[in-house]
Amino acid sequence: MIHNGSEPPRSARIAVLASGTGSLFKAFLHAASAENYPGHVVGLVVDRECLAESIAHDAGVATQRVDPGAWSDRASWDEALTRAVASTEPDVVVCAGFMRVLARSFVDRFPNRIVNSHPALLPSFPGAHAVRDALAYGVRVTGTTIHLIDYGVDTGPVLAQEPVPILAQDTEETLHERIKEVERRLLPQTVAGLITGAVAPPYRKEQDR
Ligand code: GRF
Repeated sequence: MIHNGSEPPRSARIAVLASGTGSLFKAFLHAASAENYPGHVVGLVVDRECLAESIAHDAGVATQRVDPGAWSDRASWDEALTRAVASTEPDVVVCAGFMRVLARSFVDRFPNRIVNSHPALLPSFPGAHAVRDALAYGVRVTGTTIHLIDYGVDTGPVLAQEPVPILAQDTEETLHERIKEVERRLLPQTVAGLITGAVAPPYRKEQDR
């Protein structure tokens, strides 16, 4: 992605989208601030008041809030979100617990460079309740998937996956916390690989970005 044999490597610009408690954003920020990390976080964009904002504030990362409530319709919000992210001039866009589906126009603006962390082993259990759904189904193993975002909901090319066993006494909260422990390590690691070229999306016969 940023690797180009003929030019000296430069630090990739990473924009992060978040909605939640920000624990994944915090871990990503920490990993990406290491001296040898091949990128750095240039901005946070959130869709609501959330803890990720104060984490960004403490770290001196500029934050923009694009709350759907402030826009008359979905299309205007999509445009505003795209503008906010584009203003950071990102090489890579990372969704670290961003709980909204991105519009086609957004995906088209940042082709093959939006990375999401999902708390299940896709294609099992896509959607907003992946941990609850895995528990309800009764699978013995779930996990996390780091993937590129395409037009569908959690359907994009898989970059990395790691299993997490389900324990008999697990609740949604205990299981999600163990999955998040993996996400906090695997997301920054995979994004670094994407930037350096060590991680490449698998070839898909019918590409439907
Ligand atoms: C993660 O499990 C992520 O996969 C999901 O939301 C969670 C974010 O965690 N989409 P937090 O809000 O950063 O703690």
